[in-house]
Amino acid sequence: MKDRFGREIEYLRLSVTERCNLRCRYCMPEEGICKKRHEDMLTEDEMILAVQAAASLGIRKVRITGGEPLVKKNILSICQRIADISGIEELCLTTNGLLLPQYAAALKAAGVKRINLSLDTLRPERYAHITRCGELHQALDGLAAALSAGFEKVKVNTVLVGGFNQDEVEALASLSVQYPVDVRFIELMPMQKQDEFGADAFLPVSYVTQVLPQLQKLPFDGKDVLLYRLPGGQGNVGLISPLSQHFCGKCDRLRLTADGHLKPCLHSSQEISIKGLTFEGMRERFLEAIEAKPACHGVLSATHRSEAGRNMNRIGG
Ligand code: GTP
Ligand code: 5AD
Ligand code: SF4
Repeated sequence: MKDRFGREIEYLRLSVTERCNLRCRYCMPEEGICKKRHEDMLTEDEMILAVQAAASLGIRKVRITGGEPLVKKNILSICQRIADISGIEELCLTTNGLLLPQYAAALKAAGVKRINLSLDTLRPERYAHITRCGELHQALDGLAAALSAGFEKVKVNTVLVGGFNQDEVEALASLSVQYPVDVRFIELMPMQKQDEFGADAFLPVSYVTQVLPQLQKLPFDGKDVLLYRLPGGQGNVGLISPLSQHFCGKCDRLRLTADGHLKPCLHSSQEISIKGLTFEGMRERFLEAIEAKPACHGVLSATHRSEAGRNMNRIGG
């Protein structure tokens, strides 16, 4: 279905939990999340009903997010039931990869077609620093598991952080030569509590093309990512630039949080609750959310924080 600005809204990001087995510095506070009352979160049946309502309005792609979706106990059942919903053509999942060695094959069997895996560095000490508690080899084992499970596509997401990983752009991009994966560099988005990131942490993704002049530009995919390829690349290198060049004009998505709030825009505080509603009630709220999508998000920079009102782990990216 089209919104007020003629954009076809066909992509739903469904966050199934706010919890995570990591604590990435740009995503969530060190202490983790405030314990939520179980009854305030969407149940599995409500998630399925919500996706059915969304599918009835033209949503055809669902991406499962978190927090970390694989810490959710019933994740396989959620995936299986969403994959079976008529109209849902593409089921994808974004993960930090730590639990993929256990889950990759089962996710594939449940109907997940594509996996995006977060990986900001290839240096063990840096990985431990940025995630506050992770071990690099776990994420790399996860990547290997995703690759051997035979998903249609595996992408690596790297948040570009000045003063942290800008000297690893070449090594990370080279994963797309070594393996059949796309590597995407994402500009750091200023969310609620990120006091530790100074102004020079916000690097534009044009930095990537500066340090990798050998990148060959590919035609624009009509969506939101600038695509390139390294010579000999098996996969692409993508640039996601919410700060330096936003792609709101092509935005095709809605977000549903684990506590049942539809967010018409990632960086707006507007939220529409669907908790406890019937199929018809949810369908109306989805219509309202599509109608409420703004033309674009406000300015984001080191000094202009997101107005999302939540940290990333409570939205799902
Ligand atoms: P694909 O289905 O592979 O295109 O994945 P995706 O990029 O939609 O999702 P993923 O979970 O891998 O997240 C990418 C991150 O980039 C998320 O945190 C998004 O919120 C963020 N992002 C910010 N602005 C944009 C944008 O304009 N386009 C895209 N794709 N991502 C954006
Ligand atoms: N800025 C940019 N990307 C972020 N992500 C999480 N928080 C931020 C942020 N503040 C990324 C994760 C994951 C994707 C869903 O969002 O690294 O790959
Ligand atoms: Fe967890 Fe992903 Fe947030 Fe890192 S970015 S804390 S892995 S949800």
